Amino acid sequence: MADALRIEPLTGDALRRHLADLADLRIAVFRAFPYLYEGSRAYEERYLATYADAPGSVIVGARDGDRLVGAATGLPLRHEPDTVTRPLADAGLDVGRVFYYGESVLLPDYRGRGVGVRFFTEREAHARRLGGFDHAVFCAVDRPDDHPRRPAGHVPLDGFWRNRGFRPLPGVTCRFSWRDLDEDGESEKLMRFWIKDLA
Ligand SMILES: CC(C)(COP(=O)(O)OP(=O)(O)OC[C@H]1O[C@@H](n2cnc3c(N)ncnc32)[C@H](O)[C@@H]1OP(=O)(O)O)[C@@H](O)C(=O)NCCC(=O)NCCS
Repeated sequence: MADALRIEPLTGDALRRHLADLADLRIAVFRAFPYLYEGSRAYEERYLATYADAPGSVIVGARDGDRLVGAATGLPLRHEPDTVTRPLADAGLDVGRVFYYGESVLLPDYRGRGVGVRFFTEREAHARRLGGFDHAVFCAVDRPDDHPRRPAGHVPLDGFWRNRGFRPLPGVTCRFSWRDLDEDGESEKLMRFWIKDLA
């Protein structure tokens, strides 16, 4: 049960101590469709530096004993790069009043027990403790229906996200670069934004 796991927000030094474990989780979990991420330590160090440095950032860690088995991240949107903030500002959002959710990653053996739900409630609670946020947003990769690596019967997380109170922001997109399993180098992926009202 999720109750047997320790699920708690980590900030400051506790957050920094868990970044290497978070990198391992991201590399392991994001190999699967739709991410197909051929992870590298160098990429992780660049990417996760934002969380180490940004005031207001959080990792919600799920720990089984000493082992980090899942994690979800968040930070005030204003700390994200222009490529992420610009489309949201163009859509009329006040970047300074938006809290941004990064990834949720959970090892397969621990799924279906409510941990993913906790990742959303704990990040929202963190954003509310910080105060000053009208919305939470995240973005998710968009893969074509006929992508050769799409597993038969793949169920997208749309329903799960809707049940967390999020809705798609139609036409609001950005691009993230990473190296797919089948690629020699990084390429840009189309990401679509989802939003939830917090006010
Ligand atoms: C996304 C992810 C973190 C979800 O984690 P999870 O712990 O399996 O999700 P949960 O168990 O909390 O919730 C899944 C569903 O099971 C339900 N559930 C909750 N407690 C449950 C329980 N004790 N038993 C069975 N189902 C339960 C939830 O209500 C939810 O259904 P709903 O959306 O209809 O409300 C996990 O699947 C994952 O790591 N996926 C790969 C990475 C990924 O895609 N990340 C991006 C996500 S933002």
